[in-house]
Amino acid sequence: MPTATANGRPADPPRRLGTPEELRRWSERCRAAGLRVGLVPTMGALHGGHLSLLRRARADCDRVVVSIFVNPRQFGPGEDIDRYPRRLDEDLDMLAAERVDAAFAPTVEAMFGDLNATTVRVDSALTTTLEGVYRPGHFDGVATVVAKLLIACRPHRAYFGQKDAQQCAVVRRLARDLDTGVEIAICPVVRDHDGLALSSRNAYLDADQRRRAVAIPAGLSAAAAAFAGRERRSAILCELVRRPMDDAGLTVDYVAAVDEKSFAAVDVVAPGCQILVAGRMGSTRLIDVIRLGIDPAPLGAAPSRISQVPGVIAIQGRD
Ligand code: PAJ
Repeated sequence: MPTATANGRPADPPRRLGTPEELRRWSERCRAAGLRVGLVPTMGALHGGHLSLLRRARADCDRVVVSIFVNPRQFGPGEDIDRYPRRLDEDLDMLAAERVDAAFAPTVEAMFGDLNATTVRVDSALTTTLEGVYRPGHFDGVATVVAKLLIACRPHRAYFGQKDAQQCAVVRRLARDLDTGVEIAICPVVRDHDGLALSSRNAYLDADQRRRAVAIPAGLSAAAAAFAGRERRSAILCELVRRPMDDAGLTVDYVAAVDEKSFAAVDVVAPGCQILVAGRMGSTRLIDVIRLGIDPAPLGAAPSRISQVPGVIAIQGRD
């Protein structure tokens, strides 16, 4: 059923693009007409976090394309690719309501085919710590698909969420190293009313797990409060994050205080350092992040208003 826009009229569906070639031709036509193109890469099952990115893109660019592709290359053996939520029709309705111009939703065959032998790897400490340890090969899959999207689309600007902080660093690095000329815009974490970061994987949680998952933003809030009270020892701050997670029955993969650029662990934090966290609630893996001294405490902060266009945390590559 077509989605109605704010003025009550049915929204035009986004132009459907199914192959990298179709994406390239669409984008070339936009650029030839002097229009600025924004790209929002996603794996679908769209939620308010994704909407914040495309609203930012809408505000910045003349034409916006959202990619929806559950990328098999970034899932390891035993990970959740088979149960990852796929809701293309609902996603397209949401994109129509948001007046997104084009949706690139290729099949795995169209994206990788049988003969695709190329992997893009960001070969630095950025990909070997934290998520890189728990998800070996994950960032190769992300870097490869993002590089393919940037090459096919050649957007003026591509949008990513700070929620996946390490992914943002990897993407910024590859965009720079490959001389893509694409601006990489990073947008803030969008949270649910109780502070839990929005994620497509939250759909896996049952009601009890969903309630207990709030231990993650609770822990990050405790660290933010301690930082505001001048605590600078990362071991103490990380312990404040870990404790409520342990109490709630989350299995902690890591809690780490890192330098915002290198992602190297730090013993003493400074404003801008990030605390990154990953934990498992049952079989559901959740990650989150806070920038100390910058982000509001996730608990007790006004809920993110996704009806608004978010600010950007950083834009790499702007002249
Ligand atoms: P996906 O998990 O669908 O996320 C798409 C984009 O939305 C990413 O940039 C992610 O950081 C952002 N996002 C997710 N939850 C968010 C939240 N609560 N607040 C703000 N932004 C949020 O990340 C991926 O897909 C893939 O790895 C991808 C980059 C598309 C490559 O396959």
